[in-house]
Amino acid sequence: MTVNVFDTPQDAAKSLAAEVAALIRSRSAENKQVVLGLATGATPLPFYAELIRLHKEEGLSFANVVSFNLDEYCGLPHEHKESYWYFMHQNLFNHIDIKPENVNLPSGMLTDADIPAHCAAYEQKIKDCGGIDLQILGIGRTGHIGFNEPGSDDTTITRQVHLDDLTITDAAPAFGGKENVPATAITMGVATIMGARKVALMAWGDKKASIVQKAVEGPVTIDVAASYLQKHPNASFYLDSAAAADLKK
Ligand code: PGA
Repeated sequence: MTVNVFDTPQDAAKSLAAEVAALIRSRSAENKQVVLGLATGATPLPFYAELIRLHKEEGLSFANVVSFNLDEYCGLPHEHKESYWYFMHQNLFNHIDIKPENVNLPSGMLTDADIPAHCAAYEQKIKDCGGIDLQILGIGRTGHIGFNEPGSDDTTITRQVHLDDLTITDAAPAFGGKENVPATAITMGVATIMGARKVALMAWGDKKASIVQKAVEGPVTIDVAASYLQKHPNASFYLDSAAAADLKK
């Protein structure tokens, strides 16, 4: 895979957003849709800010974009400030011209009995839309992409998962304590992500340096879901210099 190192997250986000804008515009010129896989968390914020700027200042339209988010916490309604539905609307969708009917996120408000059918329908909808053109990713300190925690192999598809204790610890401040963090989530699987035609993973800061090194240079292993991206034909990492600091090459 390709590793791109930038001085700052803003520089990296700008470069990736320019690529996305070029893809959206070239598809639009052909009257075609583009299917984006989207991610939440602190990492993609400068990327979404740049997409919003491109929309407001440079006329980039998202009218031909269909989006599928990676994951959603179980048990959180749309209006919960930590739900990914809320995050995506607050940080991107409310500020661009994407059509509401083209926005897809796993539902956080299903009974356990309804989750398997919902997950199967999510996978099917991705296929019906022609597959994901570009999947945006962050990486958790467990090596997760989406919520594919250690133990998620490359045959996994959209399903309900238990969150790793480290992931819950990292989310705790936002929820006002570990006890308030949902124990489970719905996430695309590693196979779903690997099915995207292109994958772009962003990571910033020294806290991500060690897991980025494992994902890029370590063995491909079920213990680090992001390591499977080494086998993806078109995966790029976008790093700031702090997140790239442990890379040997
Ligand atoms: P973060 O989360 O962007 O908030 O660091 C990344 C992730 O867990 O994928």
